Amino acid sequence: MVPWLRALTTTMLICHCFLDIIKWSIQEVFPPKYLHYDPETGRQLMCDKCSPGTYLKQHCTARRKTLCLPCPDRSYTDSWHTSDECLYCSPVCKELQYVKQECNGTHNRVCECEEGRYLELEFCLKHKHCAPGFGVLQAGTPERNTVCKRCPDGFFSNETSSKAPCRKHTNCSALGLLLTQKGNASHDNTCSGNRESTQKCGIDITLCEEAFFRFAVPTKFTPNWLSVLVDSLPGTKVNSESIERIKRRHSSQEQTFQLLKLWKHQNKDQDMVKRIIQDIDLCENSVQRHIGHANLTFEQLQSLMESLPGKKVGTEDIERTRKTCQSSEQLLKLLSLWRIKNGDQDTLKGLMHALKHLKTYHFPKTVTHSLRKTIRFLHSFTMYRLYQKLFLEMIGNQVHSVKISCL
Ligand SMILES: *[C@@H]1O[C@H](CO)[C@@H](O)[C@H](O)[C@H]1NC(C)=O
Ligand SMILES: *[C@@H]1O[C@H](CO)[C@@H](O)[C@H](O)[C@H]1NC(C)=O
Ligand SMILES: *[C@@H]1O[C@H](CO)[C@@H](O)[C@H](O)[C@H]1NC(C)=O
Ligand SMILES: *[C@@H]1O[C@H](CO)[C@@H](O)[C@H](O)[C@H]1NC(C)=O
Ligand SMILES: *[C@@H]1O[C@H](CO)[C@@H](O)[C@H](O)[C@H]1NC(C)=O
Repeated sequence: MVPWLRALTTTMLICHCFLDIIKWSIQEVFPPKYLHYDPETGRQLMCDKCSPGTYLKQHCTARRKTLCLPCPDRSYTDSWHTSDECLYCSPVCKELQYVKQECNGTHNRVCECEEGRYLELEFCLKHKHCAPGFGVLQAGTPERNTVCKRCPDGFFSNETSSKAPCRKHTNCSALGLLLTQKGNASHDNTCSGNRESTQKCGIDITLCEEAFFRFAVPTKFTPNWLSVLVDSLPGTKVNSESIERIKRRHSSQEQTFQLLKLWKHQNKDQDMVKRIIQDIDLCENSVQRHIGHANLTFEQLQSLMESLPGKKVGTEDIERTRKTCQSSEQLLKLLSLWRIKNGDQDTLKGLMHALKHLKTYHFPKTVTHSLRKTIRFLHSFTMYRLYQKLFLEMIGNQVHSVKISCL
């Protein structure tokens, strides 16, 4: 390389470095500077920039610093700058917006869409709601719409909402419950076996109540039998409206059951009724022990229902019962449905009839055996004595004569 060329290159390199240093120092110094040609001295000066909240009134000179003055009302500057004017603040906010931050010297006015809306072009639009089956992946903000996502396997959303994410299906087994209906994207799993579904299972009159109440049913009805019974029962009287309703809806034999059930419910806090309830509970526990373990399949329940005399309990009822009742209660629920369907039939008699006819089906022997034992238990002499005792307690001693004449 020729010497002059080398010298030139070196100079250029040095110059380049020098400029870099200047650039670097302009960026780093505080307050930030800018280059200004001063006509008075004919030199380039490094003037201070103006701070946010001010505008440039006069450039600096060799003797004086830059003169910056505060922005007038309703205008602002938000950075270090060299402008001789402030920016106007945005005027009023748009429709459906509110002022999030008022304008001041250093900040423009900030407007934001009202709660539940976001800005799309010039308008504040409502956040989208995710339909059932879809959950909120990202909630909407004043700037952005809701993002919905189809609920993946194992999750569901059963509401139309701009907030609710997909939720996990209830884990029935973890709660010690049975899965009765598998969930999907829009429905939770349905579990059974908890108190709620026991109530839904709702057996109207249990075998024990039936056996016990039947004791109170006279063989011959006098026209005023129900009124006599109402008057004989201690505690809170069943009101006449309820009695009329019972009379309208039920056969004479069933009327007694319904009345006693209502009376028992209305007086359940009275000591005497508490004892009756306890005894009935004991009886029901025994029935549960006898047939509660019978875990019958749909077909088995169906053949049992087929074997009962009179009006049949249909397939739909069996399906619903299997959904809403625990396996230990299904049989009892179906028997109670059969009883309702057949007016005033005696469930135990119906069951005895069924057992004779079940032989044609390949019905599990253990179950027929348990059913027979249950019938025997409810018909036993001990139970008879219990019913008698309960009945006497129930009607008190006031109307002994009525009892005797009725039974
Ligand atoms: C101006 O408003 C901003 C927020 O918008 C705030 O951070 C700042 O402190 C305010 N300045 C003055 C001087 O009030
Ligand atoms: C449900 O809970 C059980 C027991 O806690 C666990 O073994 C099972 O994996 C859970 N099922 C689901 C789908 O999370
Ligand atoms: C989800 O299950 C429910 C009943 O649990 C049913 O009514 C609904 O049609 C199902 N939806 C889909 C998409 O399968
Ligand atoms: C949605 O599912 C939950 C949990 O199973 C339930 O509690 C709620 O009642 C359901 N809501 C509707 C509207 O079905
Ligand atoms: C009843 O039987 C079914 C299958 O036959 C079984 O899956 C279930 O666990 C049984 N339930 C009880 C309570 O024994």
